[in-house]
Amino acid sequence: MRQLIAGNWKMNGTRADLKELAALRVALAGNPPGADVLICPPATLIAPAFAAIAGEFALGGQDCHAQASGAFTGDISAEMLKDAGASAVILGHSERRRYYAETDAAVAAKARAAWRAGLTAIVCIGETEGERVAGKALSICEGQLVGSVPEDAVLARLAIAYEPVWAIGTGRTPTEADIAEVHGHIRRCLLSRFGAGGAALRILYGGSVNPGNAAAILRVGDVGGALVGGASLKAADFLQIIAAAPAA
Ligand code: PGA
Repeated sequence: MRQLIAGNWKMNGTRADLKELAALRVALAGNPPGADVLICPPATLIAPAFAAIAGEFALGGQDCHAQASGAFTGDISAEMLKDAGASAVILGHSERRRYYAETDAAVAAKARAAWRAGLTAIVCIGETEGERVAGKALSICEGQLVGSVPEDAVLARLAIAYEPVWAIGTGRTPTEADIAEVHGHIRRCLLSRFGAGGAALRILYGGSVNPGNAAAILRVGDVGGALVGGASLKAADFLQIIAAAPAA
């Protein structure tokens, strides 16, 4: 399975930072990657980024509204992301769940919106530190998976991102054995839910992935790529992570 290396810029970046995407485009054009590459910049940058990267890699949003249009001041629909040049959208990131009280049901509605617009939905799940200490990591992830991924999911346009909340932006990561345990559990859940279709779904790991730890993490069983925050902001760092992905 070809891995997916996705960058999540969060609320970082102005037009001045398009130079990082231009650098990424030049580097990837000169040395085609062994993995699929996606950058999810702030929504304001998707259209200018699309013009700047000449299709060398894919672009995505970081959230979308469940409706296609309407009186929802400040929100952005999946159709708008698609129109701006996105082909994917991150959904249910722990920062959205925490700061905007997004529920599993809300994430599932957004996933349906993504598929309606023809986008790939990257659905994020993951336990807090307290939940891990209490031995609940697997059950929390399973519950979020069942609640956030609709039964009638469009499997060709779905990826799961396991992002332990305590590993995001902290420089701390689970052990490889812990990542293998959770990814294996997610795989079993996907197989029991979607049958053979669940075998081909990419399960990304996210949380403090950097050029130093990417190669080891990307070789853990059932890891199908990475969702990278801080280390995706600079082309030089992100390129090292892309290069660390094992060839399909
Ligand atoms: P991080 O963020 O790589 O900066 O830990 C990952 C994420 O939140 O997607």
